[in-house]
Formats: sequence, structure tokens, C-alpha cells
Amino acid sequence: MPNNQQPDQKSGIVTVDEAVALLSRGEVVAIPTETVYGLAALATDANAVRKVFAVKRRPSNNPLIVHVSSIAQAEEIAWFDHVSMQLATWYWPGPLTLVLPHRDVLPPEVTAAQDTVAVRMPNHALALEVISKAGQPLVAPSANPSGKPSPTTAHHVIADYAGAIPVVDGGACSIGLESTVVRVVGGLVHVLRPGIISLQELTDRGLTVCEGTTSELHRSPGTRYRHYAPAARVVLTFGEAELIEALGKPATRVILAPYQPIPGVEWRMLEPRNLFAEFRRADASGVDEILVHCVGPILHNQAVMDRLERAARHGSQTDQ
Ligand code: TXA
Ligand code: MG
Repeated sequence: MPNNQQPDQKSGIVTVDEAVALLSRGEVVAIPTETVYGLAALATDANAVRKVFAVKRRPSNNPLIVHVSSIAQAEEIAWFDHVSMQLATWYWPGPLTLVLPHRDVLPPEVTAAQDTVAVRMPNHALALEVISKAGQPLVAPSANPSGKPSPTTAHHVIADYAGAIPVVDGGACSIGLESTVVRVVGGLVHVLRPGIISLQELTDRGLTVCEGTTSELHRSPGTRYRHYAPAARVVLTFGEAELIEALGKPATRVILAPYQPIPGVEWRMLEPRNLFAEFRRADASGVDEILVHCVGPILHNQAVMDRLERAARHGSQTDQ
């Protein structure tokens, strides 16, 4: 960024080169990825990493994902076993995060002082350009304030931080749900967070796959709590009788479903990629309740059901 030029303060939108200049000075910048927007900082800069935790109000025991622009760059920070390398070769750049033993080159803040680091190469041209130009890996947790739905447009980030965080605008995220997080232990693939790359898909490729064990999930705090939650109450229904009963309760509500749930009701189309945007839209309209009718493709999408069940969980501790 030229010396006398500041990012467009009014809009909060910055160019890739402005973002790289800010990152190099230890600032935090939001960047687009194919999954959700991330809150980026230089992974090698402990102060910048601490700023990310502070801006997001994220508990310091919840480690960050490190974003790279090549497998070679990932190998500089982590040790790959054979299966993890196979996964990276198949899916990077893409919505898969690998939890790997780290090489002790990043500040302990990044990994919450654990012996592993989460790494991913995003499939978004602007994200890859920012990482390449920064010349080093970037931490980038989802850009939402802890506990809230992840942002899937630059406008969401601007709204969440009242324009205080500069954003590279990459348009609406094509996937709209966070990456699948896996850890390979002894050749077995543990899925710590479901995403668009499903257990079934990994199994179909000939891998042995299981859901994360309790002790694995303990080390992945972001998977434990209620989050992705809008301000409105989230109610899930699974059959017509249950839906009709829920509709009988007095509340202002938005109904989300993959198709017209019953004749005559007003509803909005729910697709995986617009789930978080619909949560935000419902909150902006001030309704009491978001009723999600979980049928058909929604019920069968493990990543969407994971986010919905967390959002519907009442009163638990929030995270992320
Ligand atoms: O799609 C995504 O993954 C997005 C985009 C921006 O890349 N990022 C994202 O980051 O969702 P975040 O920080 O919101 O979620 C990272 C998840 C959390 O559940 C965290 O607990 C887990 O990954 N995680 C991070 N490092 C870990 C580690 N070393 N071991 C186990 N889990 C880890
Ligand atoms: Mg998150």
C-alpha cells in the first residue's frame, strides 16, 4: 500500500496488496476462502496471532488453522504421515484441514501449546495470492466473533466488526461451511469436524475412517460447544407432525427447508452454502425463532446437520 494511502476506511474493503502490506506490519485482515471468510495474520508473528484471539474473543486454548499456498510450505511447519500426504495430494487446494505433528517453528499461541498444528491450503485465488505474497503461512480462524455464525461474504465481516477489520472482498463463499478437519493416527482417519468432504467420501476412497474420539475432540475445542448460533432460537423439526406442532407455538419465525415443507406456509430455501447467510438474514429481520425443517438433502448432509444441531443447543458454553 502506498505510504499516504490508507485502506478505504468507510467500506473496510482492501486490495490484495493492501492486505499483504497490513499483514506484514502485524495487522489482522479478513480474507475470503472457498469455505468461509478467515481472520488472517502472519503465523510466525506471536503478537499478530494474539490480536486474532483478541479480535475474535476466542479462548486461547482453542488452536488456529494455519493456511498455506503449497504442500511444500505445509511441510516446513508439520510432519506428514503417508495417509495425510495422500489426503493433501487429493484435496488441496480444498476444504480439508489436516491436524499434523508440528515442527516447532510457529509460536505456541497458534497451536494452543499442543504438539499438533491444523493446516489447510484454501481453494480461493485471492487467499492463495495473499498467502504467496505474504511469503509465509497465515493463521485464519473463521472470521466470526466467537459463538456466532461464520461469515460467508465480505459484508458479513464488515457488519460483525463495524468496519474495524479490513477485508479482501472475494464475493460469496462457494461452499459456505467450514472445512472438514481430520487427524490421521496409525493410518486411521479421525474426523474431528464434519465438512463437505464427508466420512463416506473418504471411506469410498479406500481409507479407514471414524468419528473423532472423545480425547481427540478434547484437543479440538472448537468442536465441543454450541456455536454457529444466531441470536434467534433455532428449532429443528424432522417430520410433518412435529413441524405442525412447532408452528402452533406463538413466535415470530422464519422457516428454512430444502423444499416447500407443507402447503401454504411461507418458507425460504435452505442449501448448505447459504445456511449461515440465512441465519444472519433471519437475525436482521428480528424474528424470535428460526425453524429448520430437516428433511431430504439437509437431513442427509452431515456437515449441515452438525452446524444445525450445535446452533440449536441451548445454554451450553459457546466457543470459536
Ligand atoms: O474452513 C475453515 O476451516 C475456515 C477457513 C477460514 O479456512 N477456518 C475455520 O477455522 O473454520 P476455525 O478456527 O473457526 O476452526 C478450526 C477448528 C476448530 O474446531 C479448532 O478447535 C480445530 O480446528 N483445531 C485447530 N487446531 C487444532 C489442532 N492442533 N488439533 C485439533 N483441532 C484443532
Ligand atoms: Mg470457527
